[in-house]
Amino acid sequence: MKKRLAVMIFMLSLSICASAVLLPAAGGSETKGKYYFKKTCKPCHKKNSEGGDISPLSKTIAQWKSYFGAGSHEKGKAKLATIMDEEKLLHVTTYLQAHASDSPQPETCGE
Ligand code: HEC
Repeated sequence: MKKRLAVMIFMLSLSICASAVLLPAAGGSETKGKYYFKKTCKPCHKKNSEGGDISPLSKTIAQWKSYFGAGSHEKGKAKLATIMDEEKLLHVTTYLQAHASDSPQPETCGE
C-alpha cells in the first residue's frame, strides 16, 4: 500500500513537471491574451491610428519580454499598467511572445 502511494506521488510530480515545460514561458493564457490585445490594445494600434500598427510580429520574443518587463508605454511617457491590470498584461504578453517575429508560429493580429 505504501509503495503504491509512493508510485502515485512520483507519477504526480512527473506530470506536474511535464505541464510546467509545456506551458508558455510567460505563464499566462494565449487565448485570453489575444482577446485582451484585440479588445484593448488594437483600437489604438491599427494602421493610421494614434499608436501606429502593432502586432505580435512587431517585436521578437526577447523584445516583448523586456518591453513588458520595463512596463513603460508611449515611448516612456505612460505606463502599461494604466491600460489594464497585471493579470491581463500577463495574458497579453504571453500571446504576443507566442506569435512574435522569431516565434515558431509568427502571426499578425487578424482584424
Ligand atoms: C489609448 C491608446 C493606446 C492604447 C489602449 C494602447 N496604446 Fe500602445 N501606444 C499608444 C501611443 C500613442 C503610442 C506611441 C506611438 C508613437 O509615439 O509612435 C504607443 C506605443 C506603443 C508601442 C511602441 C513602443 C512605445 O512604447 O513607444 C508598443 C509596443 C505598444 N504601444 C504596445 C501596446 C500594447 C501591448 C497595448 C495593450 C496592452 C497598448 N499599446 C495599448 C497608444 C495606445
